[in-house]
Amino acid sequence: MMEQIRESANCLRQAFPMGAELGIVLGSGLGPLADELTDAAAIPFAEVPHFARSTAPDHAGRLVCGTLAGKRVLCMQGRLHGYEGLSPAEVAYPIRVMKAFGLRSVILTNAAGGINLDFAQGDLMVIDDHINFTGLSPLTGPNDPELGPRFNDMCYAYPRALRELADRAAKDCGIVLRHGVYVGVNGPQYETPAEIRMFRTMGGDAVGMSTVFETIAAAHCGLPVLALSMITNAAAGVTGEPLSDEEVKEIAARQGEKFRRLIRRIVELA
Ligand code: HPA
Repeated sequence: MMEQIRESANCLRQAFPMGAELGIVLGSGLGPLADELTDAAAIPFAEVPHFARSTAPDHAGRLVCGTLAGKRVLCMQGRLHGYEGLSPAEVAYPIRVMKAFGLRSVILTNAAGGINLDFAQGDLMVIDDHINFTGLSPLTGPNDPELGPRFNDMCYAYPRALRELADRAAKDCGIVLRHGVYVGVNGPQYETPAEIRMFRTMGGDAVGMSTVFETIAAAHCGLPVLALSMITNAAAGVTGEPLSDEEVKEIAARQGEKFRRLIRRIVELA
């Protein structure tokens, strides 16, 4: 495993000799942020050894490295999901490569359904903690102690300092920022109304089909995570309206600029 990660990281070093300090995984609607980087270079996932390919619609599937708000960043334009048929370890693999490449922290972004009844469509939320409801883990199987411990702690996977930095950035931008617990599910079907009621009882505020495997792998290898959700829709059963992927995409696109503005400021402050 370590050998493969080193090969992938070496490929990134050749493609991006200037390096980077921050990683940004761009979820639905955020892809255009990668097009804002200056002094940028890009490579498709397919050209990085051991990377799985992204098949999700509207996810470009490339790494873009460049300057954003005065910092060197490495963006994943398009991410990998379990529902594409990839294993949790495949989904989380790029995070391990980011760590080996030398990033000091990573920002994970996603689109999510709002479970918390106080949330409105288009709200942005800092993930304070998560519930991994997939029943799966990227750490299943033999553990390489060079990568991280067999039984790793998850109490500080989303460090408070980064969450507070997001609050300061939001304040500077005049953006209301929510906080909550993200419930990670496998998908690809949306949830049933009964599942959403259960998640609310369990303490969930938002639900989505990504992020938890990446955070687990990041915590395992010691890469601090700041994770942000855009609430693109009220979760199943909340409004009585059927969920539509069209709506998720439309809101993600419409609110994308607000999300990007927040991230630019976070990067500036980071
Ligand atoms: N459920 C799961 N994933 C999602 C949702 C949702 O309601 N909205 C955006 N991603």
